[in-house]
Amino acid sequence: MSVDLLLGLQWGDEGKGKIVDVLTKNYDIIARFQGGPNAGHTLEFEGIKHVLHTIPSGIFHKKVINLIGNGVVIDPVIFKSELNELKKFKIDYKKNLYVSNKAHLILPTHRLLDIASEKSKGKGKIGSTLKGIGPTYMDKTGRNGLRVGDIFMANWQKKYDKIKKKHLKILEFYNIEIDFNLIQIEKDFFESINIIKELIVVESENFLFNAIKDGKKILAEGAQGSLLDVDFGTYPYVTSSTTTAAGACTGLGIPPRSINNVFGIFKAYTTRVGSGPFPTELFDDFGEKMSKIGNEFGSTTGRSRRCGWLDLVALKYSIRINGVSQLMMMKGDVLSGFDYIKVCTAYKTKNEIIKYFPFSISNEDIKPSYIEIDAWEEDLTKIKNEKKLPLNFKKYIKFLEKELEVPIKIVSVGPDREQTILRI
Ligand code: GDP
Ligand code: IMO
Ligand code: MG
Repeated sequence: MSVDLLLGLQWGDEGKGKIVDVLTKNYDIIARFQGGPNAGHTLEFEGIKHVLHTIPSGIFHKKVINLIGNGVVIDPVIFKSELNELKKFKIDYKKNLYVSNKAHLILPTHRLLDIASEKSKGKGKIGSTLKGIGPTYMDKTGRNGLRVGDIFMANWQKKYDKIKKKHLKILEFYNIEIDFNLIQIEKDFFESINIIKELIVVESENFLFNAIKDGKKILAEGAQGSLLDVDFGTYPYVTSSTTTAAGACTGLGIPPRSINNVFGIFKAYTTRVGSGPFPTELFDDFGEKMSKIGNEFGSTTGRSRRCGWLDLVALKYSIRINGVSQLMMMKGDVLSGFDYIKVCTAYKTKNEIIKYFPFSISNEDIKPSYIEIDAWEEDLTKIKNEKKLPLNFKKYIKFLEKELEVPIKIVSVGPDREQTILRI
């Protein structure tokens, strides 16, 4: 039982990167299991902010191995620019970053297909990050994809040309104007592929099997959030991978029995980027305040994040699906000075009040039912000890623990590594 999982319980951007970085000192290996450069994981320490997209968030700890698992999709061009950023901080990624040979590659034409697909949807667009995620996972499950291991094979170029040809045909079918220069983007792509060849490429399932056997401690890092899961999220407004706990098994090749703790991260309120239903979304001053104080802009696309109250119906659903054993609450500091706080504890349908997450949470089908909670005035960002937290904030934590039936073990009160309160 040497693997712990860490995942987001809302619609992403809960603060996974920050907490992985905080916890890394307890582990030997940090392993990303799904998603791709649609993710943006932010770490802050020593006055510097780092945003990672593909690379696991333990990379700044020199003695720890960071593994990109088979469940991840890699855009070599974005990956290369992330590696270049690391060089500036003298991180020896050639030594402590491993890549699965079964991770799929995002090809230049996957990005074009993503753009065409979104454009063709008009108002019904997903709000994708347009990083080629959907088309790449479609090729994976459609058994057409190209993997990291393929770049070392003699027939690599032939395979690439074949799938590119197919993609260009599909693009013709969409018949949508997209401004692109394939020759240039392919040049960047192939240059970046050469950088991957310099890294340690492994059979990650074997590597992890041996690590588990040797008693090494592993933390599996999720991307996106449970409500963006392709099966259990707000479909079709989701991403194309399994963001929930089961994704760690398929995305790393680890058996369910090796999993010990499941850490679930949530914000003290809710945010969402892109389209899709969001019952507790706010369009008033409270929402504006969350956005401004919380600096709620996407780490990957810079888009403004939609903001709203905490939704306990959705949170309980995510906790159940993932089997969360410990919770971590982020960004409580953002709510300081609010007149009051609301929490959604049930949904009202046309005929009844429900407390479970139904097939559709669209505005037409449900409305949130709230309770009001006393807020606190005090600034939390400099508090280091749980005992020093304001009474009403402590009451908020206690209320949530009672409702959610899972202990909140970490309370984060600012973006920096140091602004983290451990609760015993
Ligand atoms: P991730 O995708 O789950 O890793 O989260 P992101 O990095 O996309 O978004 C979280 C944002 O909130 C980042 O800008 C973090 O620096 C910031 N952040 C994390 N924890 C806290 C916190 O407790 N308080 C505040 N104010 N900001 C936080
Ligand atoms: P992290 O790991 C927040 C959202 C997009 C869009 C939908 C589908 O930083 O929490 P995709 O690019 O996968 O086709 O987009 O999912 N989305 C995220 N929202 N955080 C993320 O990652 C996200 N990754 C994808 O905005 O609505
Ligand atoms: Mg993010």
